[in-house]
Amino acid sequence: MAGQGPRIGLVLALWFACTGSTAAQGWQHIGKVRHVDQLKDGVELTASAARVRITAVRDGVIRVRVAPDGTFAKDFSWAVIETPEPPPIKVENGEIELRMTAGSVVVLVKKAPLLIRFTDAAGNVLLEDEPSLPMAWNGKSVHVWKKMPLEESYYGLGDKAGPMNRRNRSFTMWNTDSFGWQESSDPLYKTIPFFMGLRHGRAYGVFFDNTYRSSFDFGKESGDHFSFGAEGGELNYYFFAGPEPKKVLQEYTAFVGRTPLPPLWALGYQQCRYSYYPEARVREVARMLREKKIPADAIYLDIDYQEGYAPFTINRSYFPTFEQMIKDLRAEGFHTIAITDLHIKKDPGHGYAPYDTGIKDDVFIKNPDGSVYVGTVWPDDSVFPDFTLSRVRDWWGGLYKEFVGIGVAGFWNDMNEPAIFKYPEKTMPPGVVHRLDDGTTLDHRAIHNVMGMQNARATYEGLRKLRPEQRPFVLTRAAYAGAQRYAATWTGDNSSTWNHLAMSTPMLLSMGISGYPLVGDDIGGFAGSPPADLLTRWFEAGAFNPIYRDHTLKGTADQEPWVHGPEHEAIRRKYIELRYKLLPYIYTSTKEMVDTGIPLMRPLFLEFPEAETLYGNDQEFLFGPSLLVSPRVTEMMGGYEVRLPPGIWYDYWTGTQTPGGKTLFVDPPLDVVPLYVRGGSIVPQQPVVQYTGEKPDGPLTLRVYPGEPCHGSLYGDDGESYNFTRGEFIRLEFTCQPASGSVTFTLSSRKGGYKPWWSEVSLEIYGVSRSPKEVRVGDRAVSNWKFDEAQQCVTLALPDPSEGTQVRVIY
Ligand code: NOJ
Repeated sequence: MAGQGPRIGLVLALWFACTGSTAAQGWQHIGKVRHVDQLKDGVELTASAARVRITAVRDGVIRVRVAPDGTFAKDFSWAVIETPEPPPIKVENGEIELRMTAGSVVVLVKKAPLLIRFTDAAGNVLLEDEPSLPMAWNGKSVHVWKKMPLEESYYGLGDKAGPMNRRNRSFTMWNTDSFGWQESSDPLYKTIPFFMGLRHGRAYGVFFDNTYRSSFDFGKESGDHFSFGAEGGELNYYFFAGPEPKKVLQEYTAFVGRTPLPPLWALGYQQCRYSYYPEARVREVARMLREKKIPADAIYLDIDYQEGYAPFTINRSYFPTFEQMIKDLRAEGFHTIAITDLHIKKDPGHGYAPYDTGIKDDVFIKNPDGSVYVGTVWPDDSVFPDFTLSRVRDWWGGLYKEFVGIGVAGFWNDMNEPAIFKYPEKTMPPGVVHRLDDGTTLDHRAIHNVMGMQNARATYEGLRKLRPEQRPFVLTRAAYAGAQRYAATWTGDNSSTWNHLAMSTPMLLSMGISGYPLVGDDIGGFAGSPPADLLTRWFEAGAFNPIYRDHTLKGTADQEPWVHGPEHEAIRRKYIELRYKLLPYIYTSTKEMVDTGIPLMRPLFLEFPEAETLYGNDQEFLFGPSLLVSPRVTEMMGGYEVRLPPGIWYDYWTGTQTPGGKTLFVDPPLDVVPLYVRGGSIVPQQPVVQYTGEKPDGPLTLRVYPGEPCHGSLYGDDGESYNFTRGEFIRLEFTCQPASGSVTFTLSSRKGGYKPWWSEVSLEIYGVSRSPKEVRVGDRAVSNWKFDEAQQCVTLALPDPSEGTQVRVIY
């Protein structure tokens, strides 16, 4: 069934070419506009029995909805959270064409047949229907074809494998437990039906808000058009005008919601495996991390801590003092994250509360005949909460009460595609019945792709109630667009191969530009045991992923940082330590992500949309606004190229300045990740700590890399509560002004009532080509500076800088 729409599209295109008819293979294309009604925010067009609503949702965002039989279903979305703020619109209804101007976007509708074209105010075409294939439906399926300009790239669609640019490939959206997925595997775990088109520096976005099995074809069936459609539900999509890629992402994430500020500890290093047990092994791993001075913040309990794999139970023979273990780990600075899958063990008569209360409260998904649906997962016979009901989400959220009381810090919602064993489809039968709050029901075809999201939502909302002053940490495997509001995610069951390490970067970048930025992969690979160099390289690359979690499958070799001996351990420690040094920068970038939707891990085109040669770059990325990372991801001997975007770049390790816009050839030894800092950045750092809750011993460091323009920022708060929403944060802004023979640093603004761990700042100003003649703080010449000629860096301590503090280096 997958990709049925596009295949039919191909047949149809051929048929059309031969006969000039659009009525083929049961697909009915929309015909001629017969009638136009103006709405307050757009137009409603009638074409045969069908109606099409084109509305301006806000400036730069247009929505298209189609009702083939003329009756619109109740307007509802699991993803969209923003209420419309339509800009003023102007409609000019001509004989041949209708023109709707809505803020910065113009929608032109050709009337016979109905074809939609989006342009900017200057008339540049942004996106338009393929003239030979007007939108169509066939039974319950719906489909749209768009012209595919030469040189347009397509990005997004969430966790799809392979190159970031989706052009020339087709994809299916159907959340799937994909153990052992490979480059060609599709569909995978998530459904994020959002993509961005990019051509010559200009971007637009499309969000096809449809939860049914859907398909996207970016030129696999034809070089002239791309298309998308679904096997049910409404033809309902949003167009985001951009034209900057960042703006598209901001517009889209404003719509479907952004990731809330995570607890700081979730950005530390996380240690996992399937499974750490018994209790003594969990304690041992934690102890070794501390003894070996490998910073770490979280340790996971995978399914074996449970009794018979039944969620919300504890296997007492493995974990005799579970509660004490959680406390002891916490005392050592660890946050414990426990898995709680959505399948509830079918276990009547044994006092298993999740099952008993679930039956009593009628929370489980039913078969069409009204009986409770039973499927096989880890606990064998299992039943599944009907997460589409808010009362069931509340019930589920309440199940966390005991674990929260014990001090379990985070929760992991796995298998929530939902994964079911024994069926070839690996999920529930399509006919199972899901109930909705308004009393109606839908079958699994409509709900499958949102089930994981609603599971994560139930967990997140439950934790918000149980621990209102603590930011929750939830990790989900399945998702639909908008699930980033509730949970971080990871890329599922990858493998311990070099190819998987290489595939990780484009996949994580794709998640970020699909509005899902808090993401990581299983460091070292899940299936298999990585050789030493591969694991080391993976620890290196992972230090620059939003979530940094080492994880592996049952039965594989140990995969903690110290395996493979002291040389490898030292390198892995170096990168985990770098992660902790960078925390002020990472946290500040995370706050930017929360406020704007711009991800931590950024493809180069997001920052440099004009640099077209960088569009296809799947290997380099920006981590936050300032750091460019190009990890080694191949086993091959010899070096590789790093393409520096325009501007000035500084080697993070040596301080060496290189003009951008050129290609470097690097051959990094095992302990080096090529890492560059964008000229014009000010990067805050801290001393290494063993966990984020430990007070750093030493000053805040500001690494200043002159360039034009030059600025930096620091955001800080207590890292765990919501006090930041009540003014308990600190926000510093910095600028620098390079001139010939001098550079001036200014702490331009200091806001917020939070008192940070530091009062002293160590300023490191790079790009100073010779020993300074003078260094001034305000109008006072000072002598407490040092010059490192090799690094071309001046270091200076500022005991307690305040707003307006200015440092001038004259050389
Ligand atoms: C599948 C998940 O993808 C994996 O990360 C986990 O370890 C196993 N389920 C066991 O819970």
